[in-house]
Amino acid sequence: MGSLHNNKSRIFTPYNHTPCTRTHQIGALLLVTATFFLTRLFDQSFSPCHYSSLNLGGQLQQNLVRLSDGGRSLSWPERGYGSYLFLKIYVYDENEIDGLKSLLYGRDGTISADSCLKGQWGTQVKIHKLLVQSRFRTRKKEEADLFFVPAYPKCVRMMGGLNDKEINQTYVKVLSQMPYFRRSGGRDHIFVFPSGAGAHLFRSWATYINRSIILTPEGDRTDKRDTSAFNTWKDIIIPGNVDDGMTKLGPTLIQPLPLSKRKYLANYLGRAQGKVGRLQLIDLSKQYPDKLESPDLKFKGPEKLGRVEYFQHLHNAKFCLAPRGESSWTLRFYESFFVECVPVILSDEAEFPFQNVIDYTQISIKWPSTRIGPELLEYLASIPDAEVERMIAHGRQVRCLWAYAPESEPCSAMQGIMWELQRKVRQFHQSAETFWLHNGSIVNRDLVEFTNWKLPMRLP
Ligand SMILES: *[C@@H]1O[C@H](CO)[C@@H](O)[C@H](O)[C@H]1NC(C)=O
Ligand SMILES: *[C@@H]1O[C@H](CO)[C@@H](O)[C@H](O)[C@H]1NC(C)=O
Ligand SMILES: *[C@@H]1O[C@H](CO)[C@@H](O)[C@H](O)[C@H]1NC(C)=O
Repeated sequence: MGSLHNNKSRIFTPYNHTPCTRTHQIGALLLVTATFFLTRLFDQSFSPCHYSSLNLGGQLQQNLVRLSDGGRSLSWPERGYGSYLFLKIYVYDENEIDGLKSLLYGRDGTISADSCLKGQWGTQVKIHKLLVQSRFRTRKKEEADLFFVPAYPKCVRMMGGLNDKEINQTYVKVLSQMPYFRRSGGRDHIFVFPSGAGAHLFRSWATYINRSIILTPEGDRTDKRDTSAFNTWKDIIIPGNVDDGMTKLGPTLIQPLPLSKRKYLANYLGRAQGKVGRLQLIDLSKQYPDKLESPDLKFKGPEKLGRVEYFQHLHNAKFCLAPRGESSWTLRFYESFFVECVPVILSDEAEFPFQNVIDYTQISIKWPSTRIGPELLEYLASIPDAEVERMIAHGRQVRCLWAYAPESEPCSAMQGIMWELQRKVRQFHQSAETFWLHNGSIVNRDLVEFTNWKLPMRLP
């Protein structure tokens, strides 16, 4: 089980040389194909005899771009562009850095990781736990390509474990104790921000971690703050945390219904929260109650829908509408793949995970949020069932990428994240406050060698 690549046959159709027909476009879904393609591309343009250097042992040489043919062509390193994952991630230990424990368990250390595991923000815990067990983890900082800073700020804040001010100050304190963060200006450090607020949960994020790799489901935050903390080329969009009862292998909480048994054309299950798009959908469902189901859901109290009931509603339509809420991403988009309805995105700014390898036109519909109305329902009703079945079938192939399964699974959200991280691995790290000498010594502005840098580090 070396990588996704080794297991392609299980989830994805294999690479195919024939011209691109509709069916073959499914190929665009393939992590596998994309990686293979990329490898071929680099092979062809840079090095005709590339495979001879595919040797894990010769790491040092292999990591460098080299000139060949008398200086006319570059030989590109296999690593980072190749067909297998090869990276080392250091996970900071909670006891190693003063303050990290409060970002994980609150100021009194009383919030349990398990209570943070549930709900749509559980990814902050899951990703941490999966990395700790990962074969890509290293315990040596010197050899790490990337550094993971574990923190559950969303959960800790919700449970009253830290307030916004404390979260901000604690992050700054934590970062000031990390020489490696200072060395790269944060460029090789990874943070998870699992909620709609994204990195804004750390108020001064823009000053301190604006060069770091941020894992977040959130592409924008424009209605509450005027800036987005997400940067397409630096950060990674992660899938939301769908209830484990739905993503597990084997019998799930509820099973998908055959199309002919579904009562509604479309549904929207969620609160209005005063959002235009959602209010329009709720109105629309009153005009077309037989086509669009949009019940007034209670999220507290005795009438609150249970987990199973919720999914029972969701699976009773061909299309599951996913309008914008407080922010652009919505868990319903991911959930729809497990009840097997076609997600219809009504959130113009939404960003999606693993866009380097997934063609979203094959598995979903995105409709302008400014055109929510009878026209949308007419359009959806005009789509033949065979097309709906086709999209659902494609969705079934990729949904394993939304599940936060252990690394032993050949396809999971974690595998997708690892491939994205792999593309960010750099051979060398520096920042405006990092310098180096003729003999490879890394020093700071005062010419102090890296190993002697004193805590606390000056930031940013
Ligand atoms: C965050 O904390 C740092 C360090 O204590 C402080 O300088 C900064 O002003 C704080 N940011 C906000 C928005 O409070
Ligand atoms: C990141 O923060 C530093 C320090 O405040 C600032 O100088 C820089 O312009 C910021 N970079 C970006 C890309 O926002
Ligand atoms: C590199 O050179 C500097 C300046 O000559 C010296 O102080 C430092 O000890 C050297 N480092 C190593 C690793 O030899």
